[in-house]
Amino acid sequence: MNILSGIVVRDVLRQQLMDYIGTLQTKPELVIIQVGDNAESTIYIEQKKKFGKSVGIPVHHIVLPVTITEQEVINTIHTYNADDNIKGIIVQLPIPSGINTKKILDEISPEKDVDGLGTYSHYIPATARGIMSLCDYYDIGMQGKHVVVVGRSELVGKPTALLCLKRNATVTVCHSYTKNLKEITKQADILIVACGKLQYITSEFVSAGQVVIDVGIHRTEHGLCGDVDMESVKHIVGSITPVPGGVGPLTVVSLFQNVCDIM
Ligand SMILES: NC(=O)c1ccc[n+]([C@@H]2O[C@H](COP(=O)([O-])OP(=O)(O)OC[C@H]3O[C@@H](n4cnc5c(N)ncnc54)[C@H](OP(=O)(O)O)[C@@H]3O)[C@@H](O)[C@H]2O)c1
Repeated sequence: MNILSGIVVRDVLRQQLMDYIGTLQTKPELVIIQVGDNAESTIYIEQKKKFGKSVGIPVHHIVLPVTITEQEVINTIHTYNADDNIKGIIVQLPIPSGINTKKILDEISPEKDVDGLGTYSHYIPATARGIMSLCDYYDIGMQGKHVVVVGRSELVGKPTALLCLKRNATVTVCHSYTKNLKEITKQADILIVACGKLQYITSEFVSAGQVVIDVGIHRTEHGLCGDVDMESVKHIVGSITPVPGGVGPLTVVSLFQNVCDIM
């Protein structure tokens, strides 16, 4: 079984990014708006700040109080929409339940919506982009292959499925209402798992030689784990992304490719 390291790919893409940024007179800047102080969000934001620093992109972290109104969040977004130095705006999700997430995301200028989550964004959501970069690096062709995506979220499953379709894969998208999931996942040439369920995909869901891309991230007492039970499937599948060190590092670099508008 081959391990598809995302760290190796991330390092190659980061170097390309740094080379590109080195040629720019004015560095693009990123704003991350956080509403409240969700601890998990803060960890992700710190990762983005650290990465930005490593490649020379200023990242501004704006923390708004949890009591803020929807209109005040919108006003903050409008301020950065109008700021020419700011090339990317992220609203870190989740935001408090009293605020309409879709409405907020749609207020970000499409050309600054680097998370790709607004209706009119010009960008591919970072995780989906990262998965494609991983496949490119390891020469995992999709044309004519059966790709099964488990999960249909706006953030991961749906954009990933569409990108696979664009690459001429035959795509099956599964979700919580899918019947006989095991029978479907076993038929995949490439199985992409983003169901958000700790180690849900075990040996019964996979077949010999498959490429398995595990998007899941779960913090456990044993460290980070994925949606795939690596121990259970590793003797069966052909190659697999580890957690940690698989898709996660690619999400961050892909976000910054979006900020730099590198296609
Ligand atoms: N590596 C990274 O950089 C990265 C980035 C983003 C997310 N993640 C991780 O990836 C995972 C998925 O994230 P997400 O934001 O897409 O999660 P999400 O919004 O919770 O979506 C989960 C999807 O999985 C489906 N699902 C849930 N249980 C299922 C089951 N038993 N069988 C089949 N489908 C099932 C859901 O179906 P319904 O639509 O029917 O509810 C939904 O479409 C999470 O573990 C998250 O932490 C990782």
